[in-house]
Amino acid sequence: MLGIAALPLGIELRFLDPAPNGCASAVGEQIVGAYDDPEVIGRFCEGLDVVTYEFENVSAAALEQIARHAFVWPPISILEVSQDRLSEKECMQSLGIGTAGFQRVDTEDDLDRALGEIGLPAVLKTRRMGYDGKGQAVVRTVDEATAAFAELGRGGLILESLVPFDRELSIIAVRSMTGEFRAYPLVQNTHRAGILRTSIAPAPDIDSGLQAEAESISKRIADKYGHVGVLTVELFDVGGKLLVNELAPRVHNSGHWSIEGAVTSQFENHVRAVAGLPLGSTRVEGEWTMANLIGGVPPAETLLGIAGAQLHLYGKSERPGRKLGHVTVRTDRPGGPATAQEICGLADAHAL
Ligand SMILES: Nc1ncnc2c1ncn2[C@@H]1O[C@H](COP(=O)(O)OP(=O)(O)O)[C@@H](O)[C@H]1O
Ligand SMILES: [Mg+2]
Repeated sequence: MLGIAALPLGIELRFLDPAPNGCASAVGEQIVGAYDDPEVIGRFCEGLDVVTYEFENVSAAALEQIARHAFVWPPISILEVSQDRLSEKECMQSLGIGTAGFQRVDTEDDLDRALGEIGLPAVLKTRRMGYDGKGQAVVRTVDEATAAFAELGRGGLILESLVPFDRELSIIAVRSMTGEFRAYPLVQNTHRAGILRTSIAPAPDIDSGLQAEAESISKRIADKYGHVGVLTVELFDVGGKLLVNELAPRVHNSGHWSIEGAVTSQFENHVRAVAGLPLGSTRVEGEWTMANLIGGVPPAETLLGIAGAQLHLYGKSERPGRKLGHVTVRTDRPGGPATAQEICGLADAHAL
């Protein structure tokens, strides 16, 4: 989707993906190889002007190597912070931004102490490499916490309080090389088993104070790192107060609706930012619902038979819990909510 946004701007593309025939190879040259293989990295960055990433678990060391040959945006420093849930939360703390209560857990003694501090229920998470709810467990008893520690507890953990949120929101924003900052309207997200199922944009019932608070949180983080590109902040809304769940220094699944729904999509604005071009408008007209296709995909004929449904397939093979595509529909017109419900029902019926 980044590549598709970059092509009309006259930008030539090269992608690095360990999987042969990665979906981006349809829009540019692909180098197949590991993210952390210096020889592969050397071939990849030959002749490139700018390198960006759309996945947090790329190697920061490899990006350091690339940075000797090309500009790397967003900054490696914000990637490194977002790769570690502990440093991410410590960063929020240093900026005076609220998060769930958290404690570092390396040993069983740490776990006992953390449970004493945080209480139950809580969430035990690996600090690194988690995504789509992987590497984490909700624990409601000490026994569950001990079992989760036995399963997860090798590479460093964090215990978080389980936040009794009213809803989950995200704020997607973009910052340019000159420090210009623009945000999209807050998005409301629902997850199942830690995986994003649906997003509604703009989120319903947002007063201007909440939008301003979310933008201020995002801007403080972006300015601290001299961020360039899209920055997403996942938030919990607890009685109208925002807590940060996590950062993603990249385009985000909860912003996919912006392809149809915003004047400039998150993908185009990311490309514009990292290429040093002026940012585009983040204005949204109407209300949009995005439904993820997870594990399995309804027949395209069925989905496209629904008036207004916009289908995006990623060309990936079916696997339980894997995001294979999404559908976007405008929902602020007569029949809109019923259409969204029909699409979400189909997505659910085929989900694995
Ligand atoms: N501390 C928490 N309190 C309540 N829910 C949580 C907490 N941490 C995670 N979750 C739930 O699990 C989902 C995935 O967790 P997250 O930390 O965002 O990891 P991932 O990297 O997998 O997206 C969140 O969107 C939220 O629904
Ligand atoms: Mg998340």
